[in-house]
Amino acid sequence: MTKRGRFITLEGGEGVGKSTNVSFVAECLQAEGLEVVRTREPGGTERGEAIRALLLDPAPQESLNVDAELLLMFAARAQHLAEKILPALERGAWVVCDRFTDATFAYQGGGRGIAKERIAILENFVQQGLSPDLTLLLDMPQEAAKQRLESRLSARHEQRDRFEQEQADFFQAVRDAYLARAADAPERFAVIDAQHSLDNVQAQLRQTLATRVATWR
Ligand code: TMP
Repeated sequence: MTKRGRFITLEGGEGVGKSTNVSFVAECLQAEGLEVVRTREPGGTERGEAIRALLLDPAPQESLNVDAELLLMFAARAQHLAEKILPALERGAWVVCDRFTDATFAYQGGGRGIAKERIAILENFVQQGLSPDLTLLLDMPQEAAKQRLESRLSARHEQRDRFEQEQADFFQAVRDAYLARAADAPERFAVIDAQHSLDNVQAQLRQTLATRVATWR
């Protein structure tokens, strides 16, 4: 019987350098000879990416109801699990996912103020007991993350998406909620200090992966 793959997620607020490090983590695992499926949320499938576009689109004038936002996150996630994540894990591939349900607790819970008990109902409904084996939380103080986000946005010359338009108190609440999740599940989370240089952050990631992967093999 094929050994089930491992499910690794990367989390963090805007501007913490997540995208670069998702690639780095996937490359580290591939270098170990593992089959790696790299994916993201919201999205990861054709239908999920269509839901992502709806969620991030800043254009509509009327605001998106917070429960509708929450349900769309989980709708995309249900499709993602069924179509991509679970089949990959079952055939023995390792999945590296840019955000997962911890982002929902951080953004819809911390940021939007939805009670975590209500989010947990959907988590159980959609995931039926599945949770990541390891979550790498890239953390840095809000002010530093904001500066990085601003320079990325001005280099990109693009309109801010619906979340990027939020204010400092929203992002502070997101960070606090992430750190609270990490404190509640220290065996699953590794908090990476993302304030440092890329080399330093990647050394922390490499060290964390080496320790965890060794215990799983
Ligand atoms: P990103 O993947 O490019 O960082 O953008 C996705 C945005 O969606 C980001 O602002 C965080 C937000 N998000 C939520 O609000 N809840 C979620 O459950 C997920 C996965 C993402």
